[in-house]
Amino acid sequence: MKKSTFVTLITFCVLSLITACQSSKPVGRDGWLKGTTNEKLETVSRQLRGLDMAMVETGYRYQELYWAVQDTNWRYAHYQLEKLKSAMEYALVRRPKRAEPAQEYLTVALPAMEKVLDAKDVALFDKQFIELTNTCNDCHKNQNVDYYKVAPPLHRQSPIRGD
Ligand code: HEC
Repeated sequence: MKKSTFVTLITFCVLSLITACQSSKPVGRDGWLKGTTNEKLETVSRQLRGLDMAMVETGYRYQELYWAVQDTNWRYAHYQLEKLKSAMEYALVRRPKRAEPAQEYLTVALPAMEKVLDAKDVALFDKQFIELTNTCNDCHKNQNVDYYKVAPPLHRQSPIRGD
């Protein structure tokens, strides 16, 4: 073997070893993320959760949207609508199989709600909120989770109030 080939080979082995050691080094606070790079990514992806936490967030924001409009707090209502949309969009990146059943919600119900908020019409909102609620329940039926029956909120949960 030529000397230069030998040196290249040794350098390659040393670099590979360093890379392997670095990628299996625990990271995060107190090194909670362990294993190879792929194992760490797997752990992070599990921590990001699937649709379940997005739905907990959706349930909260759905209620906040309702009370924001009852308070005619339109900026807060727009904020909640925007977050309802991004909660579902991010969840669908993680769970693409849910994209089809979520179409009506994302492409019809939420945009229609945006128009109603732009119009600042509480009576129209109350009607559209029922439409939105139906879309939630249609998807729950479609996904065989119709024991999650969504209905407009009766009581406030959050400390946020309008003027
Ligand atoms: C993709 C269709 C889909 C749409 C649209 C949808 N959901 Fe869900 N929802 C689900 C599924 C599926 C579950 C069960 C959780 C799971 O399997 O990840 C669920 C569960 C829930 C839960 C229970 C979460 C928990 O773990 O405690 C709530 C609350 C909820 N949805 C509220 C809503 C509301 C409110 C809307 C409408 C504003 C809505 N959902 C729209 C599919 C949907």
